Amino acid sequence: MSSEEHQLYGDLAPWWPLMSSPGDYQEEAGIYSTLLEETCDGPAPKLLELGSGGGNNAVYMKRRFEQLVLTDLSESMLDVSRELNPECEHLQGDMRTVRLGRTFDAVFVHDAICYMKSREDLRQVADTAWVHCRPGGAALFAPDYLKETFPGSCSEQGGHDEQLAEGGLKEGEVCPRGLRYLSWCWDPDPTDDQYVTDYAYMVRERDGSVTVVHDRHIEGLFARSQWLEVLEGTGFEVKAVPLEHSEVEANVHEMFVAHRPT
Ligand SMILES: C[S@@+](CC[C@H](N)C(=O)[O-])C[C@H]1O[C@@H](n2cnc3c(N)ncnc32)[C@H](O)[C@@H]1O
Repeated sequence: MSSEEHQLYGDLAPWWPLMSSPGDYQEEAGIYSTLLEETCDGPAPKLLELGSGGGNNAVYMKRRFEQLVLTDLSESMLDVSRELNPECEHLQGDMRTVRLGRTFDAVFVHDAICYMKSREDLRQVADTAWVHCRPGGAALFAPDYLKETFPGSCSEQGGHDEQLAEGGLKEGEVCPRGLRYLSWCWDPDPTDDQYVTDYAYMVRERDGSVTVVHDRHIEGLFARSQWLEVLEGTGFEVKAVPLEHSEVEANVHEMFVAHRPT
């Protein structure tokens, strides 16, 4: 798989901060940091993120960890994150196969894990996390949904306008750049391990022109027991933990916190 499969992480990557604003990540990034710190034996200065995208979590996690290494399949998404997190190391790599030749106290895989579309993909990511996690360290996997928590057909909308720099619009410009989206999850075949998210983006330039783009993402959907089997099979001690977030309904999202035994 390449990121070019998804226009959002290819041509549209520079628009990512208008789709998903860093400000929306503060509370959840705090929850992830605390879980990782509490699961690690001893101090946890070094964090590796797999599938770090535009670096929205990293904006907050870099305040808790001394050293963050951010990896993603898409160079265009890494470029967005480099702007936001210039003090972090950024490396291109597929979370299934990347091997950095060093270990970390904590390994974090957020919503990018949903692009693992088979149990074999999941097993490979678990291996990547294992080889980069020191004995006594922790790994956290935070999928959007499990088979048990998938809401069926559901939609969401959002987006933002850019904050104009001092001086505002230039001659000939009529509005700030903006993006609005509608995402629509559905599952064409509930017996397999995948679901579909169709995105429609409306992308507005400063001259007021708007382009509409359709982007289909095929995402993996696994049962809690499949997750536990894969992660425990790699050697981790694993707990499934509900996400308790002020803006999220209770028991909708579940994460897997893994400890690498010494
Ligand atoms: C929703 S974005 C992540 C956003 C991120 N949580 C943030 O804080 O900005 C999903 C990311 O997964 C990445 N991705 C998809 N497949 C991947 C793979 N096999 N290995 C690494 N990254 C992958 C995409 O390039 C994209 O940047």
